[in-house]
Amino acid sequence: MHMSGNAQFEKLLSPGNIGKLRLKNRIIKTAAEMNTHDSDGFHMNLRTIDYMEALAAGGAGMLIFWNAYVDYPLGARMPDGFRIDDDEYISGFSKMAEAVHKHDCKISAQLMHAGPWCPASFSGRQPIAASVMRADVYGNFWSDEAVEATLADIELIQEKFVKAAERYKEAGFDHLEIHCATQHLGNTFMSRHWNKREDKYGPQSLENRARFVVEILREIKRRLGKDFPIGVLYNAAEYGMDNGITPADGQGFARIFEAAGADNLHPKADGQGPIYGLINWPEAICYPEIPDPLPEELDGSRNGAGFWTPLVASVKKAVSIPVISTAGFDAELGEKILREGKADFIGMTRRLLADPELPNKLAAGRLDDIAPCTRCLSCIDAIFDHIVPGRSCCRVNASLAREREYEIKPAAVKKKVMVVGGGPAGMEAARVAALRGHDVALYEKEHRLGGSIPVAAAVKGLEIEDIPDLVRYLSNQITKLGVSINTGKEVNKELVEQVKPDVLILATGGLYSVPEIPGINSGNVVRAAVLNRQLKTYLRFIGPGLLIRATKFWMPIGKRVVIIGGGIHGLQLAVFLIKRGRMVTVVDADEEMGKEVVQNYKGRLFWWLEQKRTPLLSGVKYEEITDKGLTITTKDGEKRILAADTILPALALAPDTEFVKSLKNTKGTAPEIHQIGDCANPALILDAIGDGSRIGRAI
Ligand SMILES: Cc1cc2nc3c(=O)[nH]c(=O)nc-3n(C[C@H](O)[C@H](O)[C@H](O)COP(=O)(O)O)c2cc1C
Ligand code: SF4
Repeated sequence: MHMSGNAQFEKLLSPGNIGKLRLKNRIIKTAAEMNTHDSDGFHMNLRTIDYMEALAAGGAGMLIFWNAYVDYPLGARMPDGFRIDDDEYISGFSKMAEAVHKHDCKISAQLMHAGPWCPASFSGRQPIAASVMRADVYGNFWSDEAVEATLADIELIQEKFVKAAERYKEAGFDHLEIHCATQHLGNTFMSRHWNKREDKYGPQSLENRARFVVEILREIKRRLGKDFPIGVLYNAAEYGMDNGITPADGQGFARIFEAAGADNLHPKADGQGPIYGLINWPEAICYPEIPDPLPEELDGSRNGAGFWTPLVASVKKAVSIPVISTAGFDAELGEKILREGKADFIGMTRRLLADPELPNKLAAGRLDDIAPCTRCLSCIDAIFDHIVPGRSCCRVNASLAREREYEIKPAAVKKKVMVVGGGPAGMEAARVAALRGHDVALYEKEHRLGGSIPVAAAVKGLEIEDIPDLVRYLSNQITKLGVSINTGKEVNKELVEQVKPDVLILATGGLYSVPEIPGINSGNVVRAAVLNRQLKTYLRFIGPGLLIRATKFWMPIGKRVVIIGGGIHGLQLAVFLIKRGRMVTVVDADEEMGKEVVQNYKGRLFWWLEQKRTPLLSGVKYEEITDKGLTITTKDGEKRILAADTILPALALAPDTEFVKSLKNTKGTAPEIHQIGDCANPALILDAIGDGSRIGRAI
């Protein structure tokens, strides 16, 4: 498909070259491990090829596949995954290349050795790095002490990179990316923080630090031919660590890689510690608050979107080969950065996970039809936890990584579908059912669509997660698809009998749990249901943005607050209140705090709460509520009164099954009834959309 039709995205959709390789547009899907491999083998599988093909069909110029292991087990991050350390794996990758090429899309893969990230527990030996070190990954997770690579190790591993590159070329790949960023093996040579060697691979000069990578690069170019394009992904700056890579080093490395034959660069930033650790997803730095001061080569003006732009632009100035800029880009920002000459290609991952068809939709001017990424990072959790069978790995795109199973097929019989509840579950069910040709009517008792999302958005804030955009997208879609939308309309049994649907889908939301504590009816307790009702009333007249601003001036909540419940809802509420000057204590009867908060935010959140001196008391027993506050027994058996002007229960929702029971017990309502989302099984927006999508396909 020719993609230069849309003037608004002229640059982004214009062709560009990496060496002699011509990409049809400037959108490169950057590498992202998806854990789609089979658990009992290392070979390529259909599921992964389907995933890649969906991205290719969506119109990106090139896809970079994540790293299959070039050296197993020593170079791997996990015991399972794809391998490319033997010729037997070539044919699987050929099939992938073929599937991607069908769509005029180029394919690349990362070449990476995990180095210090390889756990000794499964490789059977200590991990390897430039020098003895211990990588601090997710708070000592996977951080066995690494030993210094010997010269023989270096030679052997370099050869494994080159052999893997030869196999990819044979499989029909168009490009390869050497990944020496994060704290993987290549980076441990490049960063003086880790590299303490005394030989020619040591930290004495930039050339020595780059030598391990440069030798691989040169040898790949020599064996694959100078026209076979090779890029380098590396840390052009590191933060939160002594002797990390400086932006000047980042430019120096760029010149060295260019001189060694690299065809493009893909600079990023990384670091260590509670703020700068693993900043692949740079909005995480801004959560819960943006660091002040921020290094000048990072752009904090958009809460992480385009965060590394100044750094990448400085690298671009140092070289004449093309440079990819990644991190938090949407199409508008990508176009702007390209027009400003600050990058040659725009790397995207999450925007394309949420909607693989984004490039095609841009070209066709169908901007309203692009499903937004809401920057929740659930996709990262999905890969760290491994994909949970049946659970989506993207909040927005339920078909991600199960494209074949979730293909939208026209319904065999057109049915009259009544959806009750206009939250994410109901809207997604309506969208998918309507796409399949059903006749769908949606009913929502509030005057706005969105269910709990507008309230959640007001509490979460709009800086990081853009959930109102999801409501806009879904309501737009169902409107366009001709779903009859009835807001301000509460559904009862009589209405169901009147409508006579073939299929009734109940997505009415969960119930607010009230903890059973003596004194729970005291005047200082603000129940979640009441708070939500108040917020919803305000939201009838103003949007979440205005409400967020208004609450900075006034809220019916006292100075000292105790939150009952330390799961995701309680902790998000704590952040909201602390930012509004409240002194907050969070208590939970459970041992674990932060349940359902994604891993990448959890560490930062706990660290931030500690900085704000917010007590988090887990494993407590609630004794009573008086006008003084909440009395608890701590897990050490100490009785304490937590003084509070306001007590806020923020527990997980409970299912609401009464309505469905009443309908199921009555003849004449609907032959097929489904309950989805929070009213069936309270969980996250991710699960609500997943449920809606599943039912929309099943009926
Ligand atoms: C699920 C997931 C897995 C990722 N895995 C990798 C990886 O294996 N290698 C890599 O270099 N980057 C990885 N990334 C980082 C992305 O390539 C990209 O740099 C990052 O997501 C920021 O870009 P975005 O805001 O467009 O998503 C991953 C990202 C996601 C969301
Ligand atoms: S919506 Fe959430 S899960 Fe989906 S791509 Fe974006 S960050 Fe990942």
